[in-house]
Amino acid sequence: MKSITVKASKSYLVEVGKGLLPAVGARIAQLLPPPRKIMLVSDDTVAALYAKAALTSLQEAGYTVSTFIFPHGEASKNTDTLIDLWNAMAEAGLSRSDIAVALGGGVVGDITGFAAATYLRGIACYQIPTTLLAMVDSSVGGKTAVDLPLGKNLCGAFSQPIGVLCDTDVLKTLPNDIYADGCAEVIKYGYLGDPTLLSWLEDSFESDPERVIARCIANKRDAVEEDEHDNGNRQLLNLGHTGGHAVERLSGFTISHG
Ligand code: GLY
Repeated sequence: MKSITVKASKSYLVEVGKGLLPAVGARIAQLLPPPRKIMLVSDDTVAALYAKAALTSLQEAGYTVSTFIFPHGEASKNTDTLIDLWNAMAEAGLSRSDIAVALGGGVVGDITGFAAATYLRGIACYQIPTTLLAMVDSSVGGKTAVDLPLGKNLCGAFSQPIGVLCDTDVLKTLPNDIYADGCAEVIKYGYLGDPTLLSWLEDSFESDPERVIARCIANKRDAVEEDEHDNGNRQLLNLGHTGGHAVERLSGFTISHG
């Protein structure tokens, strides 16, 4: 297992390794011990595969867990889903000392992070990214958002998570196109100034995903620690994204992020 500490406005640990998901309850308990309420947020695809393991681990750690599952895909990252999630948090009686847990890819992480940043003016959010893209990019660094009809991520907040858990075992169930989305972000870090990472990619990434993912997260950490609010060098991480976001939106999100 590899651990990376991000020291931004909040400091937190990003852990990368095999088989970590069943330990999520114990991990969160070290940060914000039970009894507390947790809203576990996921999409229908990820929930079918991994919600039970996460739920069991959180309950065994002593948390009272509610779930909010929404249809997968970028089209769900909108204000309707956000309002539904806020209402679910209120109906479950979450207080300011309770926790939102995002289990999923970038869409789940972004919308959960934004709901947590704004519900009761801010509650804690823990990220369990399940796509390669979310592990190497979106779960780390505190960018949270929903899309508006005029474009992606037009409404959001900078709000760092309290921790990030990357279980590389879950990558085995990723469809190839979603996996490729993440590979594009991995290659991006290489071209932004990490030739060692690029040289690793000449070998099989699958042989040691932990090494590559942790290296990308270390690159991201450096950018976030230098420029948390994206006024300077962090903008380099948007390499290829400005045009890419337009392509995504104009395709009605049938062309994906990678
Ligand atoms: N995804 C780019 C950033 O977090 O700044």
